[in-house]
Amino acid sequence: MLRTKIAGIGSYVPEKTVTNHDLQKVMDTTDEWIQERTGIRERHYAEKHKETSTTMGARAAEIAIERAGISKRDVDFIIFATLSPDYYFPGCGVLLQRELGITDTEIPALDIRNQCSGFVYGLSVADQFIKTGMYKNILLVGAEIHSMGLDFTTEGRNVTVIFGDGAGAVVLQPTDEEGKGVLTTKLHSNGTYAEKLAMINPGAHGGYHSEKMGEDIDWGYPETEYGQMFITQHMFDNGQIYPYMDGPFVFKMAVQKFPEVIMEALHSQSLTAADINLLVPHQANLRISEFVGKKLGLSPAQVWSNIQRYGNTTAASIPIALCEAVEAGAVKAGDLVCLAAFGSGFTWGSALIRW
Ligand code: COA
Repeated sequence: MLRTKIAGIGSYVPEKTVTNHDLQKVMDTTDEWIQERTGIRERHYAEKHKETSTTMGARAAEIAIERAGISKRDVDFIIFATLSPDYYFPGCGVLLQRELGITDTEIPALDIRNQCSGFVYGLSVADQFIKTGMYKNILLVGAEIHSMGLDFTTEGRNVTVIFGDGAGAVVLQPTDEEGKGVLTTKLHSNGTYAEKLAMINPGAHGGYHSEKMGEDIDWGYPETEYGQMFITQHMFDNGQIYPYMDGPFVFKMAVQKFPEVIMEALHSQSLTAADINLLVPHQANLRISEFVGKKLGLSPAQVWSNIQRYGNTTAASIPIALCEAVEAGAVKAGDLVCLAAFGSGFTWGSALIRW
């Protein structure tokens, strides 16, 4: 039976480090508050005008490709997950192809818009293509440049302190080695709470969903005969261009859905939480990961956490964390590795991989 294996993994974070103390200088927050509520000490920010989700994704991809022992030209499908694309359109998939210098191969490129669960969704999509034999070297990238779109005033502190920039990538290949590879992926969504964690401008909503934000919002659309605008001066003047998050609400949903979707994957394979060697959760908040680990009866060492150094890097967080775990020798042949994510949408999912 054909299964999907991770043949190579790479990650990249920009050089610039921004500590909690640095943020303290521009907004009313403290290192203590941030560490106590989220576990985060510092995060990395991309170099202005030089780095984007595409360029960071390309650096991570080059490492993954080299470690897989293939050449860029062997890649036969690109999947790119991000919520912070270089352009509104086209997506980062084609830009990555160009950045890697392989446009002449004319391989397909697919963009995934699933925020924190983007990597797990991408893995599931890739897994289906590998199992059917359609592609043999899928490059899956998760990359984010949050620093471009955050509110660095006190107004935006609950969101801004959490997020960081970075990228991770894997090369996925078929394997027929008994028992090895991706055993299963489980995906879910519930759009009821789409606006609980969202950046809605610039967007093509035209005010249609305003009431879902819980108030009658003025977006400042000018009177025009046809159409509306993606963005208005009013949105700039009133701070409507930044991500919004109902933190406590997201927290409550996350601690419910993480264990649920992990158990669903385990049950489907007749496995239990005790079979997990390493859980690599999306790095949303250290408190969330600790809660999930405890709930599953895992020791702290079995739950990979690096949010302290990178913040929440959304679609990049799982591949960066997994890459670190592999580099640290924390994943051995035969280990059961569980990936799990929850985020904006809400969308969530899990994957079980026999290493
Ligand atoms: N620094 C200092 N104070 C802050 C702050 C900051 N960066 N951000 C918020 N606060 C304040 C709030 O204004 C509030 O003050 P008030 O009580 O005077 O109104 C107080 O801290 C508590 O805010 P609240 O939002 O209730 O805090 P919390 O304990 O829920 O922690 C989060 C906030 C964001 C850390 C937490 O809700 C969380 O982690 N949620 C999940 C977020 C997440 O995982 N997002 C990504 C999903 S993939």
